[in-house]
Amino acid sequence: MLEEARKALEASIIYYRERPLGTMAALDPEVEALNYNQCFVRDFVASALAFLMQGKPEIVRNFLVETLALQSGERQMKCFKPGQGLMPASFKVASREGEEYLVADFGEQAIGRVTPIDSCLWWMVLLRAYVKATGDLALAHQVEFQRGIFLILDLCLVARLNMYPTMLVPDGSFMIDRRMGVYGYPLEIQALLYAALRAARELLLPGNEGDSYIQAVDDRLGHLIYHIHKYYWLDFKRLNEIYRYKGEEFGETVMNEFNIYPGSIPDWLLDWLPESGGYFAGNLGPGRLDFRFFALGNLLAICNSLASEQQSQAIMDLLEQRWQDLVGRTPMKICFPALEGRDWQLLTGSDPKNVPWSYHNGGNWPVLIWLLAAAAQKTGRVALANRALELIDTCLYRDRWPEYYDGKHGRFIGKEARRYQTWTIAGFIIAKELMTNPQHLTLINFDEDPSIIACLL
Ligand code: GLC
Repeated sequence: MLEEARKALEASIIYYRERPLGTMAALDPEVEALNYNQCFVRDFVASALAFLMQGKPEIVRNFLVETLALQSGERQMKCFKPGQGLMPASFKVASREGEEYLVADFGEQAIGRVTPIDSCLWWMVLLRAYVKATGDLALAHQVEFQRGIFLILDLCLVARLNMYPTMLVPDGSFMIDRRMGVYGYPLEIQALLYAALRAARELLLPGNEGDSYIQAVDDRLGHLIYHIHKYYWLDFKRLNEIYRYKGEEFGETVMNEFNIYPGSIPDWLLDWLPESGGYFAGNLGPGRLDFRFFALGNLLAICNSLASEQQSQAIMDLLEQRWQDLVGRTPMKICFPALEGRDWQLLTGSDPKNVPWSYHNGGNWPVLIWLLAAAAQKTGRVALANRALELIDTCLYRDRWPEYYDGKHGRFIGKEARRYQTWTIAGFIIAKELMTNPQHLTLINFDEDPSIIACLL
């Protein structure tokens, strides 16, 4: 099956001026392509890691160079110039009079006109993975690349309408690119920001301008990890504290800084959260703690050491103890639980694609298997990764690589899921590679850095 996956990944490659540049999001012959025939930056990260693990860095290098050029290119927005550091959600190859050129979509074409904030963060993480795999630090040190990194950092670190070290973003600005109540300070963006800053720390060239960016990155990393540990972490002990919270506290030395009311703890959580095990909550704001479990943010937090060793083990404990809910028949759930009834109406805008237990709203996304495998390798819980891989070993191929599965336990091929979804294929390859050669973990792993966690002590 691995051979079939490799062939399918090859078939999705997009060529530009006769060189491999990226991969199409999906190659489903039965459904209208919409923009799935484009190369999505976030989707390509999975393809890129698979290529790097297979010793094929050329396509990744081409991708990094060309997307960097798109970053500061012209925007099609009328009368408005979005932040310069942004990277597109997706791009495609077009041609005029026999000459090929790239057309990028920064969200101005996308359904719902969502802003792809995650693209520039993934780009930085990928640049660092490429350097790890090839040793080609010279590429990242080129003037254009350093400038690209500065632009991304300007976008992320600049003082804004925001009192927290976390990054404030609109709804649907990452993998969940539809309205799902994930505006504000969603965990996935914060985990990605942490990874991108760690990557920048390794890639920035010291001296002149670089020094002030290095200083800014160092400052932010400490504040960010402190904030996430203190306010996003949820385990039985912490939940009990919130359960007994008093509201309306004013001043510096209060317990309930964000004025979270115990009445906002959802009923499902009280009996569901095991006594050993924990996770980072989905979002935090004034009077708001989103108690949903989001897989990507939690697994990425393990890989980039935003989670401590103890927290990482607790997240894996939670997966083990709530396996049917969080991993299910087809690893694994993008978020748990689904929004239902009035919540679904209000938070998704009655979106029929995001009905409960489908697509982003509690669907199962096989691409997440690579993050599960990476987190399992890092925490020494390989049995869990093997168990997850066994579940999909034959079904993904049999089902023709679906984009997502539906149902409480992910048993049904998603209602509107594409077949031959490239990141499903690439995710499977990466997971397999990680199990046979754990060394590959270095591409995505960041060790705990004593200078950053000093602020936690
Ligand atoms: C959907 C997903 C998004 C992905 C895109 C292409 O819009 O929500 O995360 O990048 O499809 O696969």
